[in-house]
Amino acid sequence: MGNKNLIDLEAMSVEQIEKLVKKAKKIMQSPADYRHACDGKILATLFYEPSTRTQMSFQTAMLKLGGRTIGFDNPMNSSVAKGENLKDTICVISGYADIIAIRHPTEGTAMAASLYSEVPVINCGDGGHLHPTQTLTDIVTLSCEKGRLDNLKIGVCGDLLNGRTVHSLIKALSKYENNSFVLISTPELSVPLYIIDILEKHHCQYEISNSLADAVKDLDMLYMTRIQRERFRSPEEYEAQKNVFVLDREKLQNAKEDMIILHPLPRVNEITVDIDDDPRALYFKQAQYGMYGRMALILLLLQDEDFILSERETTVSEHRCRNPKCITQSEDYLPNLSYEKLGMQMCDFCDKRIN
Ligand code: NCD
Repeated sequence: MGNKNLIDLEAMSVEQIEKLVKKAKKIMQSPADYRHACDGKILATLFYEPSTRTQMSFQTAMLKLGGRTIGFDNPMNSSVAKGENLKDTICVISGYADIIAIRHPTEGTAMAASLYSEVPVINCGDGGHLHPTQTLTDIVTLSCEKGRLDNLKIGVCGDLLNGRTVHSLIKALSKYENNSFVLISTPELSVPLYIIDILEKHHCQYEISNSLADAVKDLDMLYMTRIQRERFRSPEEYEAQKNVFVLDREKLQNAKEDMIILHPLPRVNEITVDIDDDPRALYFKQAQYGMYGRMALILLLLQDEDFILSERETTVSEHRCRNPKCITQSEDYLPNLSYEKLGMQMCDFCDKRIN
């Protein structure tokens, strides 16, 4: 079996993304044709962190395909509470299920799980690092609602440092022709440097803004995100950042008639509720598109032999990753897997520089 793990969207080519979007649209058009597509198959959802949409849309996706689901949404109700390590949990679950969807507060966990799983592993969010299936959700939404994934001016606003959805989104959309980005955040919550490197590698135009009211003017899409309270070191630091950027009716007056507003949800208060009725507000519809995107992903991973994802070349480094948020810090049996980027050694789990 080639690589069937979706850890980072980098592993999916533009053609594979296109294939997934097409499949999602076909399912939307005739869902009844897929009612038995996964008869007898089991999806395990291992959620070590809270979730509403990602977990339930994966579960619904599998149920609508005729499969079944097992899993936990509170690791304290599993043997994790007794001190079981990730490797043992995965070795066991991969003997029960045909596919695993995992979310964890620590960076690189899905990658670590994939090393020990006999079945495909899908990253449903690993700390502040990545969230590839949210990006597939966003891409299906864009394709259905804007009719294109290129030639877009995209504003991303909020917690660009800790928001994993933003990282995966920029990584994916920077591969398409002539997309440009406006990065709207406070200096403290600006995107990590490795995301800037990606924008530059793809020669994408980008600007940094601290004014949502100004930035909104010529965007095709505005992607709002919440400030990720759980990833702050202290409540004071969070308090200083919350409510800095709020999209309200007044700011929206400056936007184009056909700009779309997306948000991975949950919303806290970065979009006022009175905007929900504006035809440009698509975040609830987006969550529904996500379910079809996940149905398509499950089908491609389980049934399409040609749908093999690319793999990075790695070596075992003599150094351990020092990122305190990386899974290698807590699961000490993990090898020091690394890859090379611009002459530097990067951690294969969390993408931070090792040496
Ligand atoms: C996001 C997440 O978990 O990263 N939610 C989601 O999956 N739709 C966004 C967030 O929590 O802010």
